[in-house]
Amino acid sequence: MKKILLSLVVAMGLLTARADEGMWIPHLIGKNYDEMVRLGLKLSKEDLYSINQASLKDAVVQFGGGCTGEIISPNGLLITNHHCGYGAIAGLSTVEKNYLDNGFWAYSYAEELPAKDVTALFLERIEDVTDEVNKATKKLKGEKLAKKMEEIRKKIEDRASENKKYTTQVKEYFNGNQYLLLVYKKYTDVRLVGTPPKSLGKFGGDTDNWMWPRHTADFSMFRVYANKDNNPAEYSKDNVPYRPKKYLPISIKGVKEGDYAMVFGYPGRTNRYEVSSGISMAINEVNPSIVKLRDKRLAIMRKHMDQDKAVYLKYTSSYASISNYWKYFIGQTEQLKRLNVVDEKIAKEKAFTDWAVKNKKSEYKNLTAQYNNLYGTYLPYAKHVTYYGEAFRAPALSRLAASLEPLYKELEKKSPNADTVKKHTDDLKKNYKAIVRTLDIPTDKDLFAAMTQMFYNDIPQAQHPSIYQSTIFKNYGSSASEKTYVDYTNYVYANTFLLDSNKLNAFIQQPTIEKLNSDPAFAYAYSFVKNYKDNYEAKVNDFNDKKKEFAKTYIKGLTEMNENALFYPDANSTMRITYGTVASYEPQDAVKYDYYTTMDGVMEKYKPGDDEFDLPSELIELYNKKDYGRYANANGELVTCFITTNDITGGNSGSPIINGSGEWIGIAFDGNWEAMSGDIAFDKKYKRTICTDSRFILFLIEKMGKAHNLLEEMDIRK
Ligand code: ARG
Repeated sequence: MKKILLSLVVAMGLLTARADEGMWIPHLIGKNYDEMVRLGLKLSKEDLYSINQASLKDAVVQFGGGCTGEIISPNGLLITNHHCGYGAIAGLSTVEKNYLDNGFWAYSYAEELPAKDVTALFLERIEDVTDEVNKATKKLKGEKLAKKMEEIRKKIEDRASENKKYTTQVKEYFNGNQYLLLVYKKYTDVRLVGTPPKSLGKFGGDTDNWMWPRHTADFSMFRVYANKDNNPAEYSKDNVPYRPKKYLPISIKGVKEGDYAMVFGYPGRTNRYEVSSGISMAINEVNPSIVKLRDKRLAIMRKHMDQDKAVYLKYTSSYASISNYWKYFIGQTEQLKRLNVVDEKIAKEKAFTDWAVKNKKSEYKNLTAQYNNLYGTYLPYAKHVTYYGEAFRAPALSRLAASLEPLYKELEKKSPNADTVKKHTDDLKKNYKAIVRTLDIPTDKDLFAAMTQMFYNDIPQAQHPSIYQSTIFKNYGSSASEKTYVDYTNYVYANTFLLDSNKLNAFIQQPTIEKLNSDPAFAYAYSFVKNYKDNYEAKVNDFNDKKKEFAKTYIKGLTEMNENALFYPDANSTMRITYGTVASYEPQDAVKYDYYTTMDGVMEKYKPGDDEFDLPSELIELYNKKDYGRYANANGELVTCFITTNDITGGNSGSPIINGSGEWIGIAFDGNWEAMSGDIAFDKKYKRTICTDSRFILFLIEKMGKAHNLLEEMDIRK
């Protein structure tokens, strides 16, 4: 295996090596080095990733779990996207002090605002632990394998954590052909330093989302704090700004077509080895279901958010992420069809099978057929699984009630274990606290009624949980009437103890199975959970196990078939490097998209009073005076955004775009519509990364924020 793994890095026809395609593993990036230099890189390998000296990887963090951020000053100043800081900014905003609407700038450390649930993960090192994992799990299958895998992971992670000094993960690469250990330092005292108003940070809103040309100032700034020894510490006023091993200097020289561009970041998930049937299932079943359910959820949320500014602040962050992926799935479906990705995959599968037959590779010759057939066995439940996640679990009350299932199981026992019960009631307290912060009961009720009805209507009768017949239709009317679901919802919310903190506390003091049994929200949730667990969970797990095995073998086979190609693993929320160039593109016949946008385009899109395209008057004044200072280009324009050929996905949001000299030239924040199938099949012609230009960002910090203190910390190069 080890030998194959080394050649993994040098191999593959399915993913023919191109400068732009590939999310490369940082400590193995040396294999790509010559190509990077050819494209314009001027740094050494050690400047990119090193465990012996400060390198670029030390300036890049995983931000808050799902995004990327980078350090741009010796004092721990961090920049990420506005849409990554959005939840924290909304959480710090009130109707009176609305930082989301008005922006925020700290003019001293003392003015910086501690943000909830924001973390910065610094990567210390990566180690290959494939041999150790393989040795421990050799010849095991199914449940035994899963159990042993958990054990060995935990063992390696515990050992490397050195008594919790480090946060550690063992992660799977190439679908389990390789295992790497990642060792991090996790900083949890992270404070808001600055953000433009939402009108700029989210300029264009959902209309422009996932599209080029774009004019969004998608950035926000935080600062990482450490204890006196520069180590992670819980929030304390004695903490001091973190001193990074490495921070990025900032170039305001500007970019031009063909310039080298490199991205370090934390891409979340891709599925580039998916087979044709999996893609058909996404196109026909899964994606349309998600879009349909989200259409409804978003309309309900919007209605309540528009009526009440406080509700708006509670829901705006989750609204943004639900709508972000609502549009994502619309775009993915459209592009998978337009680019004939299914046919392309079928052709690749056929080539693979032909190769296996010709070379008498018995391990591979039936593989893609079996892999594709597997989807056939899963198809009857695919919609149920999607609705279970997207409909049943959409209302906060349903999620809270569903989380009680393990407690219920414990209380059901003859003599429940007091410690286990305590652990579950502690979880309940935590879940309640997390949910209630962003809960508006009238909104949640509307979601509950609508999702309950849609689940009933769209999922086959035979797959319904019993609650529909036993309670809903028996007591509240016919399945065809919307009123039935509304009346039932009113009853559930009026009678559950889960949303009443006094009653909930009383239950936590004395949890009994009787109380759970008589709670209507629990009865509802348990009916869905039980139905899922009794009838579908095992099938889904079996599907996933088999799929994993097929995928692992498929990748192994592909590397044997393409011994001399460069090879990279699917994204898995670990640090990757991608390199490419600044480049325009042609979205359709006779249409050409330039590689950059300007402030003039911002003004072209300006719609006073509009939710997505309004602008602050200060910006319009600056535009009228063309007061762009040192940030104007040679034509006197202010460049706002630009595009590159880098291979990124969700999770890369907030990633630095770095030029050949290791300078920060902007921040990545999106992908383009014409390549929305990119997570499944990289499209060489259309795929672009959308970035906000460093000059637009610094211009806003200086001219709108007047935060000279921040500019002074930075190393700005013209
Ligand atoms: N599509 C971007 C991403 O996934 C998020 C952009 C946020 N803006 C928005 N209008 N939702 O990284």
